[in-house]
Amino acid sequence: MNIAVVGSQWGDEGKGKLIDILSADTDITARYQGGNNAGHTVVVGDEEYVFHLLPSAILHKGKVCVIGNGVVVDPKELIKEIDNLASRGIKVNAARLKISGHAHVVMPYHRILDGLRESKRKNKIGTTGRGIGPCYADKVSRCGIRMIDLVNPRILRSKLEDNLREKNEIFKEVFKNPGFSLENIYKEYFSYGRKLAPYICDTALYLNRMMDRSKSVLFEGAQGTFLDIDFGTYPFVTSSNSIVGGLCTGSGVGPTRIDRVIACVKAYTTRVGEGPFPTEFSSNLKDEIRAKGNEFGSTTGRPRRCGWFDSVLVRYSIIINNVHELAIMKLDVLGDLEKIKICVGYRHKGKVYKDFPMDFDVLDKAQPIYEEMDGWKKDISGVRSYSKLPVNARRYIERLESLLKVGVKYISIGTKRAEIIIR
Ligand code: IMO
Ligand code: MG
Repeated sequence: MNIAVVGSQWGDEGKGKLIDILSADTDITARYQGGNNAGHTVVVGDEEYVFHLLPSAILHKGKVCVIGNGVVVDPKELIKEIDNLASRGIKVNAARLKISGHAHVVMPYHRILDGLRESKRKNKIGTTGRGIGPCYADKVSRCGIRMIDLVNPRILRSKLEDNLREKNEIFKEVFKNPGFSLENIYKEYFSYGRKLAPYICDTALYLNRMMDRSKSVLFEGAQGTFLDIDFGTYPFVTSSNSIVGGLCTGSGVGPTRIDRVIACVKAYTTRVGEGPFPTEFSSNLKDEIRAKGNEFGSTTGRPRRCGWFDSVLVRYSIIINNVHELAIMKLDVLGDLEKIKICVGYRHKGKVYKDFPMDFDVLDKAQPIYEEMDGWKKDISGVRSYSKLPVNARRYIERLESLLKVGVKYISIGTKRAEIIIR
């Protein structure tokens, strides 16, 4: 069985924890887009692990992790992650990690440009500053450097020469920045290539061959549907296709090979960075939920914006990803609330929107239409079966199911591995 997990809001839905649980029963876990802008947290016993590039499944002994061609790789950060795991007793070797030679490399000029562009924008995106956008832009402009180039000194040098000739001029003239030395970058990145060479292969061939042998693959989406470059709240999005459609181009696996799509959804809504957010809380509730849910970005540490569950938004995501089942994460965080609201529509200039609007000016100014439910006011982290959940918690879940028109299979009620209800 091949499963895809996608985020259905603005990222940080708890995909890391779900992947950690599901990957125990799958042979291979593959990432297909995004880069180290992602931050996936997994808690095992008293240990917390945060992954940015490595699939969260790397914690399971004997499981294979793949970084697909659609991912953008910052080799320095990847090596750091691998070394960090080694220092905590988890060994990563070429049998357990495969990196696509076609994956594009995040270069130092991408990181710097990311920051410089943001500083010049009037309407800032609030990127993670990891160079993701400029790296994908170079990929599409056909001047990107790929992982396979890092192990070929002649090609690496010639691509770098071409890139720096153009880029150094832009850095100097447009941004008054000194630019980059060819020799320094060449030496540094060639050395990363040597370190990562054992892992580099054709991951599309690898994945398809493994599937031919009935091995199961779990595809780990990063970010979320509303950060998708096509379907998200553009331009406040990331630069890749984070919807399930991105899986095919980002891994070289055909759509008919995917058996199930699971959408990860937070029991409320959060977003980091700028952009519209109709159900955002007023400040006191925001502080309360942020503290209870530890809503701080795992990549940049920025406080996340928090709000009520938006069923209009998530329903759109269910459609775009053709979701089979839902995983509701962080339900425990709502446990202190007297009343809980769900957004079931938007009102703008006298018109009611039940479908997610195309015009983000509407989204920006829309008044959410809420349904209000009673809270359950209980600590539910010890509950392990659905029937033992307080009746109001079940009512909340079942109302979401009927609004979203899809069933909930997993309910997370805490950060620990065991704190999950499987229906
Ligand atoms: P995970 O995988 C939440 C957001 C940034 C910014 C926008 C563009 O942990 O869910 P970028 O650096 O990608 O160019 O920034 O996207 N963003 C995320 N927000 N979770 C993420 O990943 C994110 N990755 C990018 O905050 O608004
Ligand atoms: Mg994150």
